[in-house]
Amino acid sequence: MEMLSREWLEEIIHLLNERIVVVNREGIIQYMDKAYCDFIHTTQDEVVGKPVQDVIENTRMHIVAKTGKEEIQDFQPINDSVMVASRFPIMIDGKLEGAVGTVMFPDPEKLRSFKNNIKQLINDLRYYRSEVEKDLKSKYTFDDLVGESPEFRKLKEFAKVVSGSDSSVLLTGESGTGKELFANAIHNSSLRDDHPFVPINCAAIPEELLESELFGYEDGAFTGAKRGGKKGLFEIAEKGTVFLDEIGDMPLSMQSKLLRALQEREIQPVGGQKIIPIDVRIIAATHRDLEKMVEEGTFRQDLYYRINVIHLEIPPLRKRKDDIPLLSNMLLKKLEKKFYRKGVHLSTEVMERFQQHSWPGNVRELENVLERAINVLDNDTIELGDVPLYIRDQKSDETSTEDSKLPSSNSESNLASLPIQPLKDTMALVEKQVIEKTLEFTHGNKLKAAKLLGIGKTSLYDKCKVYDIK
Ligand SMILES: Nc1ncnc2c1ncn2[C@@H]1O[C@H](COP(=O)(O)OP(=O)(O)OP(=O)(O)O)[C@@H](O)[C@H]1O
Ligand SMILES: [Mg+2]
Repeated sequence: MEMLSREWLEEIIHLLNERIVVVNREGIIQYMDKAYCDFIHTTQDEVVGKPVQDVIENTRMHIVAKTGKEEIQDFQPINDSVMVASRFPIMIDGKLEGAVGTVMFPDPEKLRSFKNNIKQLINDLRYYRSEVEKDLKSKYTFDDLVGESPEFRKLKEFAKVVSGSDSSVLLTGESGTGKELFANAIHNSSLRDDHPFVPINCAAIPEELLESELFGYEDGAFTGAKRGGKKGLFEIAEKGTVFLDEIGDMPLSMQSKLLRALQEREIQPVGGQKIIPIDVRIIAATHRDLEKMVEEGTFRQDLYYRINVIHLEIPPLRKRKDDIPLLSNMLLKKLEKKFYRKGVHLSTEVMERFQQHSWPGNVRELENVLERAINVLDNDTIELGDVPLYIRDQKSDETSTEDSKLPSSNSESNLASLPIQPLKDTMALVEKQVIEKTLEFTHGNKLKAAKLLGIGKTSLYDKCKVYDIK
C-alpha cells in the first residue's frame, strides 16, 4: 500500500474532529494537531519539542509514555472545562516508543454521571473520615477501670488529677495490668479529649518503618512510598495525645529522634526538608524496667527523664486480690454480652482458687480464663472443671505462692537497698540473708533448706557457723 502523505493524515485527523497529541518516551511533544493547538490557544511551532507537562494542563501523557499502560476516558480539567482524555502507548515492533492522546468534550449525560460519582465519593470520604476520627477517639474512661482496693483507688485518683495537666506520663506495670486502659482514660478526661488519641505500639513496628510512622514521609522518600507522602502519627494526633506503647522496645536510634522531636516540639518528615511544629501530649507505657535499661545503656537517660515526668505504676493483680471478685463480675458481664449469655457466675471454689492464683498475666489472664470457661459452659455456673488445670491444680499454686515468699533473685528492691562496698562483703551479706530467709521458710529445718539452696548439709552448717546463724 502506498504511504499516506502528511497532508492526508492531517486532513483525516481534522475530519475525525479529534484533538491529538503525540509524545516520545521522554514525554516530549512530537506532534499536536491544529484543533488541539487552537483549543489551548497555541500553535504547532510553539509546542513541538516541548515537555508535554509544560503545554497541557493536568496531562498524564508523559506517564503513559513511561508505563505503557493505556488510560481510557479519564476526566481531565483543561481551560476551565472537564474534558474526556484517552491516552494510548505507542508500541513499535513490541517496543514502547511514546504515547498518543486525544481529548474531547464529554457528552452531557456522561458528565452528569461523572459529577454524581464524584459527589458520592465525597460523601463516602466524609463518612470514612468521621469513622476514622471516631476510631481515634479514645474509648475508655476512668469508669471502665474497675478496682476498689485502696492502692488501686489511690492510683486512679492520682491519674484523674494528672489528666488535667499537659505533662508527659509514664505508665509502668506488668503485662495485662491495664496500662492501655489508663492511657485512654487519662486522655479522655484531659482538655485534649476533643482531639485524637493516637496509639502506637513501638514493639510491633519494624525499626526501619518506625520513624516514618511517627513523623510521616514526603513524596518519593523511599521506594514503595505512597505518592504525595504520608502524614505521621504525631501530625495526626495534633492537639491530642500520642500513646507510645511498649516504649522500652524502641530502638536507640529512634529514641534520639523522638527526644529531639519532644525537645524542639517539631518534627521533620522522612526524606523532606519541611519542619512541622507539633502540639501533642505524650503518654508512654512499658512493662520493662526502664531505669535498669538506662543503667545498661539500652534506654537513653535524657529521654527517660523527659517521658517520666509523672509516673504511674500499676500494681499487679496478685497485689490487689480483693479486686478479683469485682473484676471477675465485670468481665463476666462483658463476656455475657459477647456470647449472648445471662446470669453466669463463678462457683465458690473457683473464686477461692482465683484468689490463690498469682495471675502473672494479670487482668488479661483473668479475662482469657473467663472467656475460655464461658465458651464451653453448659449451665450458668463456672465450676473448677471449667477453668484451666494450672489454676485448678492447688499444689502448683501453693508452691508458687510459697516460692514468692522466698527472696527472689531478680528483685530490684532488694538490690536497691544493698550498700556500695567491696563485692565480697556484699556477696557475704546476700548469702547470709538468703540462708536466713530459707531457714525461716523451712521452719529451721536445715536439711530441707540445704536441699532448696542446692548445697550440701555440711556446707550449710559451716556457713551458719560463719554467719552466726542459729
Ligand atoms: N482495672 C481494670 N478494669 C477493667 N478492665 C481492665 C482493668 N485492667 C485491665 N483490664 C482489661 O485487661 C486487658 C488488658 O489491659 P491492657 O491492654 O490495658 O493491659 P496492658 O497493661 O497494656 O498490657 P500489655 O503490657 O500486655 O500491653 C484489657 O482487656 C483491659 O480491658
Ligand atoms: Mg498494652
